[in-house]
Amino acid sequence: GKPLVVAIDGPSGSGKSSVSRETARRLKAAYLDTGAMYRAVTWHCLATGVDLEDAAAVENACEEVDLGISTNPDRQQVAVGGRDVTEAIREPEISKSVSAVATTLGARAELIRRQKQIIADSGRRIVAEGRDITTVVAPDAEVRILLTASEESRLRRRGLQLGGTQSAEALQEQVLARDAKDSAVVNFHEAADGVFTVDSSDLDFDETVDAVLAVIRRAT
Ligand code: C5P
Repeated sequence: GKPLVVAIDGPSGSGKSSVSRETARRLKAAYLDTGAMYRAVTWHCLATGVDLEDAAAVENACEEVDLGISTNPDRQQVAVGGRDVTEAIREPEISKSVSAVATTLGARAELIRRQKQIIADSGRRIVAEGRDITTVVAPDAEVRILLTASEESRLRRRGLQLGGTQSAEALQEQVLARDAKDSAVVNFHEAADGVFTVDSSDLDFDETVDAVLAVIRRAT
C-alpha cells in the first residue's frame, strides 16, 4: 500500500498498545511499540548492573545495547542481545524503573534515532505508538492521534491488565507516579497542533479501534 504513518500518543492505561496493534492489523501495516524499547533498555540496565541514576552510564548502555523488536502486529517480540525479554519487560520492577531511562535525555535521543530508522525501514507503512511520536519521532506522520482516557478509566484498565495481584491503591499510586515522572520530559496529555484527539473513556475496545480508523479515513 501507499505510505501511511499513523502516530499515536497517550498516557498509560489509555488502551494505546492494544488499540494501535489492532489498527495496524486492519491497515495491513507494521506496528511499533516504542514503550517496549524503553522497557527493554531498562531491563538491560537492571540485568547488567547499570546505575539508573547515572545518566552517562544509562546513555552509554542505550547506545551499545543490541535491541531486537518485531514490527509484526501478530507477533510481538522484544529481544536484548538475542535473548527474548517479551514477558520480562512487563514485570512491575520494570514499570517502576522505566521513567529513569525515559527522563535521561541522551538515552531518549538514541531511542528516537532508532525509532525513526524503524519507521523508515517499514517503508513508511506503520502504526507507531508512545508518548512523543506525534511531536518528536514522527511529526510528519500522515495521521497523528492523541488517545486519551479519564484517570478513572485508565486506572480501571490497568487493574484489569495486571490481574489484580497488587492492591488497587498501590497500583493507582504507581500508574500516577509514572505518568507524573514521564510528564516531566514529554507532554502526552494535550494534543499538539494538527493532532486529533480520541477519548476512549466511554468506549470499549472495538469502539475505540473504530474511532481511530474513522480519524485515519477522514485524514487520508
Ligand atoms: O507505553 P508503556 O507504558 O509501555 O511505556 C513505558 C515507559 O516508556 C513510559 O512510562 C515512559 O517512561 C517511556 N516512554 C517514553 N516515550 C515513548 C514511549 C514510552 O518516554 N515514546
